[in-house]
Amino acid sequence: MKVLVTGGCGYIGAHTIVDLINNGFDVVSVDSNIRSTTQLLDGIEKITGKKVRNYKVDLCNLEDTHAVFHENRDIVGVIHFAALKTVPESVADPLLYFHNNLTSLINVLKCVKEFNVPNLVFSSSCSVYGNTTALPVVEETPIGEAQSPYARTKQMGEQIIEDYSRVNNTQSIILRYFNPVGAHSSGLIGELPLGKPDNLVPVITQTAIGKIPKMTVFGSDYDTRDGSCVRDYIHVTDIANAHTKALQYLINHNNASNCEIFNLGTGNGVTVLEAIKAFEKISGVKLNYTMGPRRPGDVISIYANNSRAKEKLGWIPQISIEDSMRTAWQWEVSLRDKVLSN
Ligand SMILES: NC(=O)c1ccc[n+]([C@@H]2O[C@H](COP(=O)([O-])OP(=O)(O)OC[C@H]3O[C@@H](n4cnc5c(N)ncnc54)[C@H](O)[C@@H]3O)[C@@H](O)[C@H]2O)c1
Repeated sequence: MKVLVTGGCGYIGAHTIVDLINNGFDVVSVDSNIRSTTQLLDGIEKITGKKVRNYKVDLCNLEDTHAVFHENRDIVGVIHFAALKTVPESVADPLLYFHNNLTSLINVLKCVKEFNVPNLVFSSSCSVYGNTTALPVVEETPIGEAQSPYARTKQMGEQIIEDYSRVNNTQSIILRYFNPVGAHSSGLIGELPLGKPDNLVPVITQTAIGKIPKMTVFGSDYDTRDGSCVRDYIHVTDIANAHTKALQYLINHNNASNCEIFNLGTGNGVTVLEAIKAFEKISGVKLNYTMGPRRPGDVISIYANNSRAKEKLGWIPQISIEDSMRTAWQWEVSLRDKVLSN
């Protein structure tokens, strides 16, 4: 069974491709490489022994997207990761985010419809809940005021898929990720941000290795245990496996409706300062950080109730925050060693 993965050269896409291949799926990827290179595809090949084809196509271009679907009419599903994901960048340039994330989604849906693709899995985010005080969040927790244009593209993306799935034959699953972190245990694939990273863990590992001289923790006066933001850090291979399970769930027609939503988090809220401590403990490196002002677009505190994904998908997150930090650190060190050996 063949699956089309959009954004397959990116962080979560690459880990998901490995999990799909390990579970017997064939995979083709579409990625314009606007925020990636093809480096992770080499890692995928080393891990799985399978060479994955990537179509270097911008999904905002309908004609090119259509050509990929036409060439792959035998797919059983699409997993749509491709998007821009940097919150501060979206605050600074909302139109870039609305154009890229929504046009690409609409083009993918137009092709899914035309080629009668039966199953769709969409990457959403816990940012759709906004600044809620009802913690942990369940899937029915009301969608809150989006704190950034990025979050708004996820809210709108979800609504577009819900409306689409209501009147078309496609069965859809929306996965709301909390904070994906860590890297594959092989050390061959991991998070590879182009330019300055924005997510906490690559900022931590790049500071520890000396790429970033000093990191800033944004906000020290939030109403949390230690004043820093609270997040639910979930290992990327656990997130990846949920996609395989979601696709199998749809293929086996276990879904109760044409569009279902699942939270993907561990259920544990961890503050930014606690995450830093966990990293320092496993790496033995003292991080050079400073406390800074709050950052526009950040929600204060969010963590998941993940019961629905556990019960319906049979998904069980396996990896602790310590092991997440360990694999992220192993990946950063392997990137440095690669540079040194070249
Ligand atoms: N990493 C996170 O913290 C996180 C959290 C919640 C949700 N998500 C969502 O998960 C998905 C994957 O995230 P990721 O961390 O792997 O990001 P990533 O940037 O590593 O990967 C996204 C990939 O999509 C590609 N892409 C972007 N726009 C494209 C377009 N128009 N056409 C073709 N390719 C395009 C990029 O080149 C990149 O390789 C995204 O939708 C993101 O919003 C990520």
